[in-house]
Amino acid sequence: MEPVILACTRIWLIIISCLVIISIVGDVGVMSSSSTVAGLLSYQYYETSCPQVESIVTDKLTPILLSDPASSAALLRLLFHDCQVQGCDASLLLDSDTSEMSSSKNFAIRNRETIGIIKTAVDSVCPGTVSCSDILVLAARDAVAMSGGPKMKVLLGRKDSNTSNHTLADASLPAANTGVGEMLSIFTKRGMTVEESVAILGSHTLGVSHCVNIMDRFSRQIIGANRTPFETLLALRCAFGASISNSGTVGNDVTITKFDNQYYKDTSRGRGLLKIDSDMSTDPRTAPIVERFAQNQNEFFKEFTAAFLKLTSANVLTGHQGVVRTKCNAVN
Ligand code: HEM
Ligand SMILES: *[C@@H]1O[C@H](CO)[C@@H](O)[C@H](O)[C@H]1NC(C)=O
Ligand SMILES: *[C@@H]1O[C@H](CO)[C@@H](O)[C@H](O)[C@H]1NC(C)=O
Repeated sequence: MEPVILACTRIWLIIISCLVIISIVGDVGVMSSSSTVAGLLSYQYYETSCPQVESIVTDKLTPILLSDPASSAALLRLLFHDCQVQGCDASLLLDSDTSEMSSSKNFAIRNRETIGIIKTAVDSVCPGTVSCSDILVLAARDAVAMSGGPKMKVLLGRKDSNTSNHTLADASLPAANTGVGEMLSIFTKRGMTVEESVAILGSHTLGVSHCVNIMDRFSRQIIGANRTPFETLLALRCAFGASISNSGTVGNDVTITKFDNQYYKDTSRGRGLLKIDSDMSTDPRTAPIVERFAQNQNEFFKEFTAAFLKLTSANVLTGHQGVVRTKCNAVN
């Protein structure tokens, strides 16, 4: 008798623990599917459908970045301008009409065709599988790493939009003279902390700005106020009509092809280029963080990684909300 009872007790224990496990797993399943959109993206999204995607992107991008080091900056800004409008959905790759005009917020956006080149390479191995928006995120991620920045893991599984809206883009992208308050409002809406907001601006460790976008740094000359030595330098650099012809550029920091914390060092010494770069070093909300990143590159990289994940996950299309475009610059 006794062994039978024991066996029955054990069976009941097993059944009960199985029920407990099922209910726990069930809860977790419900939680992950109904919480944030980032929950629908995954690090393994293409693990079975296109396991080579990350290496194809890196292989295609490496020679492009080696032959044109300025394209790292271009790709990172391209990503920001895509993600800022309606979530990262490659809509910016559809909208090619007015990017050369200085009145457009997408002024001087470059390297859109690079995403198309990588897409063709990816599609030759995994046809119709990987979205243009995921390729753009991977390319920007690689551009940061290859310039000496943090090596980041990114979530995948975004879908592309069927539409782009140039009016919406111009309304959603920050103006060249954006201040600290507006900047913080933009990025805290994306779920970023103040530290992460200051860190994502560290993207300005790469690339250049056109004179037309920094004129308010030295045009104080006109109203007779004193300029700082750096502003005098900028005025000279942008003199002789370069600011009017849109052709003149100035480096965003001293090391424009290196992803490092030089941007914060420059900014904290009064050598921030754009208004936002300069203001961040004096505004009490951001100045201590600028100082911290200037002292400690690891802190910057850590916060930048968290911020990049949030920038690239907010508001994205997943599942049947979007499509995998065949050509990145045209709807299917
Ligand atoms: C309030 C926020 C921001 C403002 C007001 C701003 C403004 C600007 C402006 C005016 C330029 C110069 C464009 C030109 O004249 O060619 C620029 C360049 C750049 N921005 Fe930003 N930006 C902001 C945030 C960001 C973010 C979040 C990123 C990346 C995630 C980013 C990445 C870049 C890069 C890499 C460049 C250099 C582009 C190149 O050299 O081709 N920016 N930004
Ligand atoms: C584009 O965006 C603008 C500004 O938000 C909006 O008024 C307009 O209706 C949008 N157009 C389309 C076709 O969705
Ligand atoms: C996008 O466009 C394609 C092709 O025109 C269409 O089949 C699809 O239903 C559209 N998807 C969405 C989400 O609008």
